[in-house]
Amino acid sequence: MIKFQNVSKIYPPDIKAVDNVSFEVGSKEFVSIIGRSGAGKTTLLKLLLAEEKPNQGRIFLNDQDICRFKSTKVSELRRKIGAVFQDYKLIPSKTTYENIAYIMEVIGVSDFEITRDVAGVLEIVGLTERANSFPAELSGGERQRVAIARALIHRPEVILADEPLGNLDPYHALDITRLLLKINTLGTTVILVTHNKNIINSLGKRVITLQDGKVIRDEQNGRFIL
Ligand SMILES: Nc1ncnc2c1ncn2[C@@H]1O[C@H](COP(=O)(O)OP(=O)(O)O)[C@@H](O)[C@H]1O
Ligand SMILES: [Mg+2]
Repeated sequence: MIKFQNVSKIYPPDIKAVDNVSFEVGSKEFVSIIGRSGAGKTTLLKLLLAEEKPNQGRIFLNDQDICRFKSTKVSELRRKIGAVFQDYKLIPSKTTYENIAYIMEVIGVSDFEITRDVAGVLEIVGLTERANSFPAELSGGERQRVAIARALIHRPEVILADEPLGNLDPYHALDITRLLLKINTLGTTVILVTHNKNIINSLGKRVITLQDGKVIRDEQNGRFIL
């Protein structure tokens, strides 16, 4: 479903953020990416979202070369990929409901569909009761649930989560990991970037390890080894 073929990303003057990386991720797979700070994890995700262009190599989503996409195809691509970040990126002045509905309003979805779909994703993340709360009224774990609900709203094929556990205590980190596993079980591919050793070692899923922009390990039932 996702294929990186000899992909390199060099930031000027000559920072090799991603260095000749090749891997494939199958449909409905759950893959974690680990690596020290600066290893190239975020750059890898940005390449997949077409926020950055590779200097070398090709990136495919469902056999389409995303590096050749024009802007309308890039918008389409970003609706197929939901992104979640460490700092949630919620709008403080909007409620849970509004934070999710907002992106549908922007693309002109009907009110009927917005109400139905927002209720659906809130149900999945278990936040129906918090629909009218503002981010400041929510715990870190709940904020990340809102961000995940927002990422799910376009029914993406893939969820990219860039250190989503980074600001959470162990209890909420486990909680969000379970939610990502549930979303994966419901049929969405998940790519999880995390520094959380305990979570990685308890998942028993595929782990790709990056070092200096290179894949140094790619194992099913991988462990946290840096
Ligand atoms: N926009 C940028 N311009 C220049 N260098 C960058 C930029 N983004 C990232 N880098 C560099 O690329 C390398 C990989 O960064 P990044 O992908 O953010 O790593 P990670 O997410 O694993 O911490 C680092 O050396 C970082 O400083
Ligand atoms: Mg990063």
